[in-house]
Amino acid sequence: MKDIEQIKKEAEKKLNAINTQEELDAFLIEYFGRKSGVLNNILKSLKDLSIEEKKEVGKKANQLKEFLQKKAEEKKQVIFQNKIKIQEEKEKIDITAPSKYHKTGGLHPLDYINQKAVSIFESMGFEVVEGPEVENEFYNFDALNIPKHHPARDMQDTFWLDVDSLLLRTQTSAVQVRYMQKNLPPLRIVSPGRVFRRESTDATHEMQFYQIECLVVGKDISLANLKSLLEFFFSGLLEKSQVKVRFRPSYFPFVEPGVEVDVSCFLCRQKGCSVCKNTGWIEVGGAGLVHPNVLETAKISSRDFSGLAFGMGLDRIAMIKYNIDDVRLFYSSDLRFIKQFSK
Ligand code: PHE
Repeated sequence: MKDIEQIKKEAEKKLNAINTQEELDAFLIEYFGRKSGVLNNILKSLKDLSIEEKKEVGKKANQLKEFLQKKAEEKKQVIFQNKIKIQEEKEKIDITAPSKYHKTGGLHPLDYINQKAVSIFESMGFEVVEGPEVENEFYNFDALNIPKHHPARDMQDTFWLDVDSLLLRTQTSAVQVRYMQKNLPPLRIVSPGRVFRRESTDATHEMQFYQIECLVVGKDISLANLKSLLEFFFSGLLEKSQVKVRFRPSYFPFVEPGVEVDVSCFLCRQKGCSVCKNTGWIEVGGAGLVHPNVLETAKISSRDFSGLAFGMGLDRIAMIKYNIDDVRLFYSSDLRFIKQFSK
């Protein structure tokens, strides 16, 4: 009997010191093992005792067994809960911690230029207007003073669709009359978007590219307004404090006069480099004063109102700015290309 008390104390002490499932398993074998477990040994030793003693010791032994089973079960629960706690601690997510993955995304360089260009016009109160990529012949050509069979149509090789004089727009200028038919002057809009031309592709030509169009119609709009507007715009877009703008006479059927727009080279600051071919100027787009025929087509009086229009391609600007030597990379869906621009 004394032994059993002793065994109980010892076992309890051992159990209390146990921290892991492995230790508990070893304990269970030590006490409950069939062959030489402590409890079985007690029961085996009963045979040498008198009947009275057997009864008493047997009872005590069973009590001890139940007691230890209960304690072991409790211990098992504690170990299990601890394990979960440790696991939770490991997997804890701190939603305020900076992301490990913040470097994987990046704006496409064309998106960057586009968003920046649009936001500069917005800061001047321009409305952002979008037109359809599948356009009809009227808005893309006729309404822009480019009649059928006029050689000017050949300036822009066109993807025609099989139905209803539909085409893929060749220029964002197609939004001009669309918008003016529905809105009275004074008006100022900016319209970015994708345009298409039937070209064979190479490092500097794609059959799709991005343009941004700007249109202002009001009283006494002049080339001086156009120039100051473009100087402000390009100084913001190219992040140079003073970009100079130069006009060269040119021909676009929907403007009169029409000009080619150059900006002072933003790479070499007009000292001469390969991009500006040592001229100090980079050609960026076309512009002019809206042709009276275009205003009249939109039912706006060309006597009372005048307008300015400007259009430029974004791809070339992005290529110069980011030193990209092949325009096709923009449309290649190649992640390695995009990743260069992630901040
Ligand atoms: N739409 C012309 C082009 O794609 C550019 C342009 C826009 C010229 C507005 C004059 C005025 O070439």
